[in-house]
Amino acid sequence: MKKIVLILTLISFHSFAQKGSKQQFIDNLMKKMTLDEKIGQLNLLTAGEATTGSTVSTDIEAKIKAGQLGGLFSISTPQRIRKVQEIAVNQSRMKIPMIFGMDVIHGYKTLFPIPLGLSCTWDLAIIERSAQIAASEASADGICWTYSPMVDISRDPRWGRISEGSGEDPFLGSAIAKAMVRGYQGNNYNSTSNIMACVKHYALYGAAEAGRDYNTVDMSRTRMYNEYFPPYKAAIDAGVGSVMASFNEIDGVPATANKWLLDDVLRKQWGFKGFLVTDYTGINEMIDHGIGDLQTVTAKAMKAGIDMDMVGEGFLSTLKKSVTEKKVTESEIDAACRRILSAKYDLGLFENPYRFCDENKAKTEIFSANNRNEARKIASKSFVLLKNLNQILPLSKKGTIALVGPLADNKENMVGTWSVSGDFAKSISVLQGLKNVAGNNVNIVSARGANITSDAKLEERVSIFGKPTYRDNRSDAEMIEEAVKVSANADVIVATLGEAAEMTGEAASRSDINLPQNQQDLLKALLKTGKPVVLVLFTGRPLTLTWENENVPAILNVWFAGSEAGNAIADALFGDVNPSGKLSTTFPRNVGQIPIYYAHKNTGRPLGDDSKWFQKFRSNYLDVPNSPLFPFGYGLSYTTFQYGEIKLSKNNMTQTDKITASVEVKNTGNFDGEEVVQLYIHDKVGSTARPVKELKGFEKIMLKKGESKTVSFTISVNDLKFYDNNLNYIAEPGEFELMIGTNSEDLKKVGFVLK
Ligand code: BGC
Repeated sequence: MKKIVLILTLISFHSFAQKGSKQQFIDNLMKKMTLDEKIGQLNLLTAGEATTGSTVSTDIEAKIKAGQLGGLFSISTPQRIRKVQEIAVNQSRMKIPMIFGMDVIHGYKTLFPIPLGLSCTWDLAIIERSAQIAASEASADGICWTYSPMVDISRDPRWGRISEGSGEDPFLGSAIAKAMVRGYQGNNYNSTSNIMACVKHYALYGAAEAGRDYNTVDMSRTRMYNEYFPPYKAAIDAGVGSVMASFNEIDGVPATANKWLLDDVLRKQWGFKGFLVTDYTGINEMIDHGIGDLQTVTAKAMKAGIDMDMVGEGFLSTLKKSVTEKKVTESEIDAACRRILSAKYDLGLFENPYRFCDENKAKTEIFSANNRNEARKIASKSFVLLKNLNQILPLSKKGTIALVGPLADNKENMVGTWSVSGDFAKSISVLQGLKNVAGNNVNIVSARGANITSDAKLEERVSIFGKPTYRDNRSDAEMIEEAVKVSANADVIVATLGEAAEMTGEAASRSDINLPQNQQDLLKALLKTGKPVVLVLFTGRPLTLTWENENVPAILNVWFAGSEAGNAIADALFGDVNPSGKLSTTFPRNVGQIPIYYAHKNTGRPLGDDSKWFQKFRSNYLDVPNSPLFPFGYGLSYTTFQYGEIKLSKNNMTQTDKITASVEVKNTGNFDGEEVVQLYIHDKVGSTARPVKELKGFEKIMLKKGESKTVSFTISVNDLKFYDNNLNYIAEPGEFELMIGTNSEDLKKVGFVLK
């Protein structure tokens, strides 16, 4: 019986979908829906497979039957999703299929580096590929909607969610946003391996005051448009299907009820056609923001343009009353419902509600050897070599390596934060990776050396979500003593130190971003042995590494590299892969420099470079230089690259023509290697003060030992445009500087004029 109903349902939807246009199909459907059913489509609940908020959804089955649920997230497997979908299409009056979401942030089961790490590859093709693999695995498990890409620009490493984004730069962030949307959505979901993306968190979530999560955001419109909006807009331009509103307020109005943000900018200025979902209980939280009671804030969210209410059920419980009381119009609810139905139509769910429930595909596609191989390659490209004195790295595949540190033999933490669907115990630890790659001539000895932190309470707070830190109850001194003893006969010490995975992520802000004191004490003791020490640094944010940079000869920043972390780290340590990552975020010398970013303004009293520090009545600090420890775009290689002089096709351009800038880059070292050639532009005089430089182009090239290549960039007027004080997007005639080089500080420079 059940089957017959299902077939009839499919036939009727199918014939609808075939016969007319999407518009007609939705019109017909909506004519038959009651107001309650329309409101039901706007309700999104969590099935709770992953914990991503503190509110738990209840009575899910009953709500589906009653037509009170449009979508469900944190649920997976074709079997479970099929079961829920069957209830929707067989037992609810309107038989409308549900949409199934999940936070697939940096991979599904095969996990890739955390997004901040991925962004350090500066390799758009592999970033797109990682999203494609994630979509193909997630879709094989029944999921058709992911809450990614997260494109929030952040210039504050205290903020734990800096790990989830692409760093500080709007140009790089925009390019990555587009690549990820392409990777997830493919060509309009014409394959079942593509899923709908959801760009988040709109907007400005990464600019929380003091780096404390969910905190107030307040900034000028010119800064929004020039520096923080571009990646969201890039995702819209790439055709992203949905947008998630952020938790924070903007100009005093929470994003979730900010009509200017959601309607004027997103829909009217940028032409966004998809649907808008709140973040987890985003509507209800406006009560604590002090905006009103549940009915009031819900009505405000609806009027501002929110279509779907995540977990909070304010829509479900108050919207009808608001219609009766004329606080919300039925046509506003209709518009929201239409957008949800349209997304389901685009995903092909009306044609086949089980389109993404293919058990066989799940068996072959998920966590396949092929996907893991790709993850390993991608991971090794995200590492940033911060220091390599006397070419300690790469290590040779013989002799004794002492592997020390709390992250040496920890699988679960390798995957980093926001990896809710992963199977952490299947990831590769550093110890395993070294053994896999080293061959038979390397002897590996190991010792714990230190806990993540001496502060047991702090460690407990971050030993969550199935990522134990395996705290050792010995004293710090005992562990250090053992590590020193174990290292006595080693040729080199590899210290795997840094943060635990959940020291970044949501509600994981830190006011102190040093390496924890007990880990630094371990490092000091290891250095005292006189052996070469390589610091393999795990982190989800820039850390303040001033002491480490002064004292440790080699530092390889490996972020959290995903399922294949250990293998990829070993590939890089032994030189099977030459590190090519470049920082997408500035590393400060100390917390007091925050916010620190390369594209700053000059001020009226600039200091110039560090050689001039300190000067009274200049913009500088008494106790620390202005420059960062490691600048944006920075990253070493086992080889060296030499840049020639920049050649311009001409020195003047008009608003309609173009200039080509070329530079020859030569691999002058002893290894083949990849280099990210970076182009920056400085608008010397503007109607508003302009940044000292802005990234406007980059190309990652492979150069064999001794090889040279000429890299060319074409500059058009679009690369010179910015939002002026009246928010006009213009290029102002005048002098510009064009810079090309290996990072944001080490650059060759030429001038040109826009007529
Ligand atoms: C996060 C979002 C996430 C959502 C759903 C929220 O707490 O801020 O990034 O997509 O939960 O899990």
